[in-house]
Amino acid sequence: DVDVSSVKSWLESNAAPLIPSYYHTRTDSNGRDDGAHELAALVPVIDFSLLTSDDPQTHAAAVRQLGQACQDWGFFIVTNHGVSENLLEDTLEKCSDFHNLPLEEKKKFCGSYDPLPTIKYATSALPRSVGEDDHYWIDHLKFFNYPNQCNTPHKPPGFYETATEFCKEMRGVARTLLEGISESLGLKPGDIIEHSAFDVGYQKIQINLYPPCPQPDLVLGLPAHCDNGIVNILIQNGVCGLQVKHAGKWVDITPLPNSLIVNTGDDLEVLSNGKYKSIWHRAVVNEKESRLSVVAAHGPQRDKEIGPAPGLLEKEKPLFKGYTYDDLVRFQLKGVSPDMPRPLDAF
Ligand code: SIN
Ligand code: FE2
Repeated sequence: DVDVSSVKSWLESNAAPLIPSYYHTRTDSNGRDDGAHELAALVPVIDFSLLTSDDPQTHAAAVRQLGQACQDWGFFIVTNHGVSENLLEDTLEKCSDFHNLPLEEKKKFCGSYDPLPTIKYATSALPRSVGEDDHYWIDHLKFFNYPNQCNTPHKPPGFYETATEFCKEMRGVARTLLEGISESLGLKPGDIIEHSAFDVGYQKIQINLYPPCPQPDLVLGLPAHCDNGIVNILIQNGVCGLQVKHAGKWVDITPLPNSLIVNTGDDLEVLSNGKYKSIWHRAVVNEKESRLSVVAAHGPQRDKEIGPAPGLLEKEKPLFKGYTYDDLVRFQLKGVSPDMPRPLDAF
């Protein structure tokens, strides 16, 4: 039997061939690879400094652009965000150090099965329930960092301090983006923040390591999924692998230097009453280089019932019922395959 508690350790310990549970086709039902490399250049870029500009016209134009990015893509690249480049580099370095800890150290975070763990180290991250025999080419650590910071690991050295600073900065960027998003929907800047109780909402960090794979075309790092959350922010080392579904095609996301990749999640789809959709995405891997990505996901207060923002319902009917984050995750984990209608449709 192969121990697949870590792809990295498995690779390091032997040269076992791929086991069939790792095979996942990237092609559609007609056998075609539905990649669209030509669309990669069209992924929207949001200049954060324009959003925070004191000049009302500059700000208004940035808000419109942000709304358009949410509506057309649900994924965008943020530049001039004001977060120190050193901090982003340190974060990637400390996260890489985490994955370089001995497996025994990391396994302390495996825990027992719990659909809503506060911290978990695992391989084959399954954002939605997929067949138990499926494996993905990924090792990851995820932890809820906010409002309760006590989950942030203290190993490796410096990890806690850097992660704490990174988390604080990402919350700030997410909050400002959310104010702009709220405005772009014709609401007051603070409306969605208030309705979702964002300021006491959760922040979840996920540190993904995708080791090089001898047969990258046969596997996936992460299967196609949509994210929970309102505004999620991703940074990565220089290696690409994130693809988003846009106009029916898989489009590569290639960040600009020192930029953040942002996507809107399920909760924003509900809060915006369906205007800003949660977008399918996946991670592919390559033969040569390890890819590291760090995601800071931001959501509502976990046990608060949320629904479409009340301000929107003055003019339109709600398309979603109220729910709490914790209930949503339990519902999603009941086993909905990625090809089926998204769980939210069932509300
Ligand atoms: C994710 O979807 O959670 C991460 C994708 C990536 O690593 O790019
Ligand atoms: Fe995701």
